[in-house]
Amino acid sequence: MSILIKNGRIITADADFMADIYIEGEIIKTIGQGLDIKADKVIDAFGLLVMPGGIDPHVHLDMPFMGTYSSDNYETGTRAALFGGTTMVIDFILQTQGKSLQSALHEWKSRSDNNAVGDYSFHMAVTDFNEATKLEIQHFIEEEGITSFKTFMAYKGALMIDDRQMIGLMQEVKKHGGLINVHATNGDMIDYLIAKHRSEGKLAPIYHYLSQPEITEAEASGRFADMASYSGCPGYIVHLTCEGALNAVRNATRRNQNVFVETCIQYLLLDASLYERNFEGAKWVMSPPLRQKKDQDTLWAGINQGLVQVVATDHCPFKWEQKLMGKDDFSKIPNGHPAIENRMELLFSEGVQKGKISLNRFVEVSSTNAAKIFGMFPKKGTISVGSDADIILIDPFEKHTISAATHHMNVDYSGYEGWELTGKVKTVLLRGQIAIENNECKIQKGYGKFIKRNKVEGKI
Ligand code: URP
Ligand code: ZN
Ligand code: ZN
Repeated sequence: MSILIKNGRIITADADFMADIYIEGEIIKTIGQGLDIKADKVIDAFGLLVMPGGIDPHVHLDMPFMGTYSSDNYETGTRAALFGGTTMVIDFILQTQGKSLQSALHEWKSRSDNNAVGDYSFHMAVTDFNEATKLEIQHFIEEEGITSFKTFMAYKGALMIDDRQMIGLMQEVKKHGGLINVHATNGDMIDYLIAKHRSEGKLAPIYHYLSQPEITEAEASGRFADMASYSGCPGYIVHLTCEGALNAVRNATRRNQNVFVETCIQYLLLDASLYERNFEGAKWVMSPPLRQKKDQDTLWAGINQGLVQVVATDHCPFKWEQKLMGKDDFSKIPNGHPAIENRMELLFSEGVQKGKISLNRFVEVSSTNAAKIFGMFPKKGTISVGSDADIILIDPFEKHTISAATHHMNVDYSGYEGWELTGKVKTVLLRGQIAIENNECKIQKGYGKFIKRNKVEGKI
């Protein structure tokens, strides 16, 4: 199969030019003006923006969590991602405390193998670092192509590790060329506040927010940065939400330390006033919670300052009946929110079209930086000769409205119901195949491939 994309305006993280793209098989073969090459299919991209497929490095598909499973599986989740222009995701494997990393990988593969529509990789969440786990790290990096290890500084009893385990893991991961990503919030402080609110009969969703004040995230982010600095291990803070936490990272840069930062689309666009809607606020119960408008300003500025390198989703959807598990107690509401399909179009509409970020920055934070940080560049994350032909075509002016009635995620509400966006993903190519065209998915489950990643460099 060969495809020629003609007359498009190509945007990468560092370029903006008119050219044609010739694709053969899965790979971009030639880029140039006025290409006169015979192809099986010709796409006229006149008036459209041609960009690298989005990479969302923070999703939870079919994940056992808080007594239930996230409602998108590898098929529905990666298909919905493609509809929104995301061609690759990185999901999280969770080690069960007392068991090996390998057994967790085995369990996750039993759900993902032959089920994904779009491409995917895994981060390995280490929830129990001990002498046995330590011996598995090198194998994951060198044989499995899983080079990032997730840690939780919260969710005590199930996922959280202490600082002793953290520093041991960092030293081992650094030795073999990996990276640590972290859910950086102070778990003990949060558990104290949750128990206090419950004992006072304060059980509505807003108390989820009030149990995780900004300081819990700022403190843990600073502590993580300090441990990463001591060990020399590359670090990546997932779903950073607020000014205090970003300032902890800013401080780390003063000693020339590189701590990568991911925020998520919801923290840029939504705020904590949504928790005032009584139980409807459960739709936005996630950890960390939504913050204040001043934090949104800090995050947009952080993107333009180069302090925030990635905009992900932390897609972790639960249907309304699952959210109802916490109708009498906020601490039982499954934490998470759906966004895998909406991230690119929301960021384009609210970021690029409203003048907050440039087109190049859009590509950088939605695709290129994730590919670089997680060891996949330039196979993924750019448009260049030899790269995988993961390409999206966006009509920058088409208007559309987000609704649960029309989205493709397996969840019966949207956190953005009724939002009118400017800019629509029209066509999506994944490794040289048309994946999305005319509002239809043209590839089947099983097409999505596990992508082995390289050792990380700790710089972009
Ligand atoms: O609320 C969230 N974020 N749910 C998913 C698990 C996590 O902490 O990322
Ligand atoms: Zn988290
Ligand atoms: Zn997450």
